[in-house]
Amino acid sequence: MSLLIAGSIATDHLMTFGGKFADSLVVEQLDKLSVSFLVEDLEIRRGGVAPNMCFGLARLGLRPVLVGAAGEDFADYRSWLERHGVDCDSVRISEDRHTARFVCTSDSTMAQFASFYPGAMSEARLIELAPIVARVGAPEFVLVGADDPDGMLRHTEECRQRGYPFIADPSQQLAFGEGDLIRKLIDGAAYLFSNEYESHMIESKTGWSADEVLERVGTQVTTLGADGVRVLRKGEATIELPAARNVAALEPTGVGDAFRAGFLAGLSWDVGLERSAQVGCVLAAYVVETVGTQEYAFTAEQFLARLEESYGAPAAADVAAHLHALS
Ligand SMILES: Nc1ncnc2c1ncn2[C@@H]1O[C@H](COP(=O)(O)OP(=O)(O)OP(=O)(O)O)[C@@H](O)[C@H]1O
Ligand SMILES: [Mg+2]
Repeated sequence: MSLLIAGSIATDHLMTFGGKFADSLVVEQLDKLSVSFLVEDLEIRRGGVAPNMCFGLARLGLRPVLVGAAGEDFADYRSWLERHGVDCDSVRISEDRHTARFVCTSDSTMAQFASFYPGAMSEARLIELAPIVARVGAPEFVLVGADDPDGMLRHTEECRQRGYPFIADPSQQLAFGEGDLIRKLIDGAAYLFSNEYESHMIESKTGWSADEVLERVGTQVTTLGADGVRVLRKGEATIELPAARNVAALEPTGVGDAFRAGFLAGLSWDVGLERSAQVGCVLAAYVVETVGTQEYAFTAEQFLARLEESYGAPAAADVAAHLHALS
């Protein structure tokens, strides 16, 4: 069975200015604003929620299918992902728009000038899942992550219509979407992913109580940052587990996506919800310890050792058989 991961595809261009922006701004002249900063550093990072999750799944030996829209400039990013085991054959390439890009310059006081160009991402609404399914086989799940809102809605509706089990993971789009959109993205999902802050936003925007949200999804998975994760299932005991042990947190970007990748790998291996959440927490630990969202690596032995260190030998034993492909 296939794993379809739909969501934004983007790169982040991050620049650092050694001085203070405020020193260059003349308050009385803001109507003629035109400033340029000589920056010291440019970092280009691969991102977008869908490639981040696909990378994590591929690191664990699975072969996820990336579903999203990018520009002609996607070639380098594509070869990186393909080299690491991600199926990119269904990515839609826009004829006239560049891949989505976040451009941010920070100064020495952490003040920021940032812009987000959605670009090709807005063509996610033109992607149909059925031809992808015809190519790769029936989906175990379709994850619908943050993306062009019309694209998210279209994927969710197509899943409902064709009976593909789907995972709602609206994350960043929750802040922008209205209640009606969010209700449509969540209702009937097999799983709902969010962090704790987002879970409250889901309740306030949809107008559904926590119980009503749970009524509408099979399983709700809420990540709690350094405090771990909570898994709720209607009529069953809550699973709560701590984050991985001995994590030297360096940079959190992408940590939520990595958790999802690990969790989905666990589902696909059929090791149960608790084990899946444990795999998610260990994969997230690798991301939080590195700068960038797709810069981590491990052998099967190393991954299993971390799993054992945090969650005990039985956890490692249950996962070991599935990590064969790695070493
Ligand atoms: N400081 C940390 N130490 C160890 N594990 C962490 C830490 N922060 C996050 N994690 C792991 O990552 C998972 C997801 O984290 P979090 O709840 O912060 O996601 P998020 O808010 O969606 O993050 P983002 O959107 O920035 O990627 C947690 O469940 C936990 O397992
Ligand atoms: Mg998140």
